[in-house]
Amino acid sequence: MSITTGKPLLDVLSGTKTEKPPFWFMRQAGRYLPEYRALRQEKGGFLEMAFDPQAACEITMQPIRRFEMDGAIIFSDILVIPMALGQHLEFVQGEGPKLDPINTADDVAKLGYSGFSKLEPVYEALGNVKTTLGNEGFKQTTLIGFCGAPWTVATYMIEGGSSKDFMKTKLFAYQNPEAFDNLIALLVESSAAYLINQINAGAEVVKIFDSWAGSVDQQSFYKWCVEPIRRIVDIVHGEYPHVPIIGFPRGAGYNYLEYVQDSGVTAVALDQFVPTQWAARAIQPNMPVQGNLDPAILRAGGDVLIRASEKIMSDLQEKPYIFNLGHGINKDTPVENVELLVKILKG
Ligand code: CP3
Repeated sequence: MSITTGKPLLDVLSGTKTEKPPFWFMRQAGRYLPEYRALRQEKGGFLEMAFDPQAACEITMQPIRRFEMDGAIIFSDILVIPMALGQHLEFVQGEGPKLDPINTADDVAKLGYSGFSKLEPVYEALGNVKTTLGNEGFKQTTLIGFCGAPWTVATYMIEGGSSKDFMKTKLFAYQNPEAFDNLIALLVESSAAYLINQINAGAEVVKIFDSWAGSVDQQSFYKWCVEPIRRIVDIVHGEYPHVPIIGFPRGAGYNYLEYVQDSGVTAVALDQFVPTQWAARAIQPNMPVQGNLDPAILRAGGDVLIRASEKIMSDLQEKPYIFNLGHGINKDTPVENVELLVKILKG
């Protein structure tokens, strides 16, 4: 028998198979929950809540109190890093994030980070969640910290927000290679420091979200989506060798293989486009996997939800496996559907 930690998520991440897969959901805190919408109404905006350690703790706890997930992910955002580097950030209701875009090499040279005291409220929120999980008896729930991957964060910094084709980012990268390398290097250094600070504050696992890894062409994937992650992992593991790191190269397709082989992450999160039987053969022999229910199926609910989640589990649970979605919960998902899924998962 293997020794377990009492926390199923940590067991799986250390390579121990559990009888039932531990679970949590990307964007498990958020607008599908009435208690989140109520607090948001009261506090005003997303950033106000993310930088209020009491509110961020409360929001992180909301889904845990309802569903007792095995993972509690701190309520924050990947775009707090550009903010801490000196870029103006706001969230416009219905439009998503807006940043003052980087247009030139000079704009990159103006960025800088100085120890990240701006992000102190995030660390304080992590400490609050750790205490609250203990006080409220959620002994098996693991606290997860996170950051964005350099490529994905760079796209927001250069585009000034979301994008469909990432043309501006790619042109910048190909036409100003030195400035782009400097930007990626700055993001590597600051993201690694940020993750280490989150671990100091109580995070037991960290996850690196590369939401737009799927936009990178095959020849650039290694340079922009594998090497920077490898550098972050080396820095974090240099300080904390035993803290698991989950990587999420969303949309990477066949490039998942290269990522699994060389990024150094402990486990990999699969998007809903990765065939689960292929992942069982090609990825699970190398590392634990997490995923990959389509959030649209969770929103649809009913029989299709039951069948799809059972199929994913039967394909992946022979080896260390964490149940999750392939991307974040859609904001119009009925809470009853999440209840149904949790009932299936708890068996
Ligand atoms: O998963 C969790 O519950 C933890 C919290 C979390 C948020 N953002 C809260 C949030 C996490 C892990 C993120 C990561 C994030 N943020 C990513 C990577 C994961 C992914 O979804 O691909 C990205 C690309 C972002 C950038 C971002 N933040 C966008 C594009 C938006 C606007 C889109 C939207 O859904 O409104 C946000 C805002 C945001 N981040 C919200 C939440 C709950 C919505 C804020 C609100 O209106 O209440």
